[in-house]
Amino acid sequence: MTNALITGWGMYAPSRVMTNDDLAELVDTNDEWIVTRTGIRERRIAADDETTTSMSVNAARDALAVAGLDPAELDLVIVATCTPDYPLPATSVTVASALGARHAAGFDLQAACSGFLYAYATGSSFLASGMYRNVLVIGVEILSRFLDWTDRSTCVLFGDGAGAVLLQASDQHGGLLGVDLFSDGTGCEAIIVPAGGTVRPASVETVEARQHKIRMLGSEVYKYATRQMGESALAALRNAGLTVDDIDQFVFHQANLRIINSVQRQFGIPDDKTFVNIAKYGNTSAASVPMALVEAVGSGRVHPGDRVLMVAFGGGYTAGGAVIEWTADPARALLAPGEQTRMGRPQQSLAGAAV
Ligand code: UT7
Repeated sequence: MTNALITGWGMYAPSRVMTNDDLAELVDTNDEWIVTRTGIRERRIAADDETTTSMSVNAARDALAVAGLDPAELDLVIVATCTPDYPLPATSVTVASALGARHAAGFDLQAACSGFLYAYATGSSFLASGMYRNVLVIGVEILSRFLDWTDRSTCVLFGDGAGAVLLQASDQHGGLLGVDLFSDGTGCEAIIVPAGGTVRPASVETVEARQHKIRMLGSEVYKYATRQMGESALAALRNAGLTVDDIDQFVFHQANLRIINSVQRQFGIPDDKTFVNIAKYGNTSAASVPMALVEAVGSGRVHPGDRVLMVAFGGGYTAGGAVIEWTADPARALLAPGEQTRMGRPQQSLAGAAV
């Protein structure tokens, strides 16, 4: 039996920090509302010269370096994102080129905030089938370019980032133990960028009406997400033949601390088994789960032999849960625990800056 083991991991967060107070200068909001309703204190915003490809490459280079794999050995690059460089071509292809992955296939995968889990399951399947041996899976978003900075109900929630894992085929036990993927298109309008696709192609009118920006029916999504995160967690556990008590660390999609706390209460999951970093990054959609996983490993919460349950929920609606057995030595990471964030520039506040 071939297993898909995580042998490398990395993440990238842009160095520009936008605090809740910075946002209060743009829209009618305040730190207290944002913190109590979401748990978010600040988020990262990509610099003007950063792209979905460049952020992916930063995270991916670290993942490859941790595993010690030459990019030329990669068979496949999967990029999960809803904020690609272009509608055409796929971001994965430019990422593969920039990495020097000259023998790799590449495609993008769009399942909104659940994208990384879909990509992870897809990459694992390529390895389990015997087709490939080295697959790079990236979750990445530059959501700041799709936010309506006049809409307080959405612009305070999201941030930019990237996370990557290298999956390698192995006879050793571990990797993916159970997975469940879910979709329900009745939620199509609940989180949507209304224009720029075939339904409403880009026009002067769509730009003027801000229809290329994210719109969300927050409280509807909240109710659905709270229920579905629990369902997806249970379904993945069932497929793995495990229960909540068998899990050492839970890595939930970081959309809202209240959603995470609600799932914790539902299953009686203690805080020390629940990794949370939403305060620093906000909701980074497809990047949220891999960034949280990388930081959980970097902070010493995940050890070889541990079982980790990752759960995500997002636009579509989509959702997913995956139980993995962690096998790698966390000490292989490039940076010291607590310093997992790869940053190219000194931090700067965005107070008063136009974004
Ligand atoms: O990752 C994809 C999945 N996404 C999610 O899971 C997000 C799910 N939804 C949520 O996390 C929450 O619904 C939000 C954080 C988006 C909103 O929290 P809420 O407790 O559901 O608030 P609400 O939308 O019911 O709004 C409550 C009040 C409203 O005022 P009124 O009508 O009661 O006077 C809003 O206008 O809060 C107001 N409000 C704000 N006030 C200050 C909305 N946004 C803000 C804001 N600052 N940024």
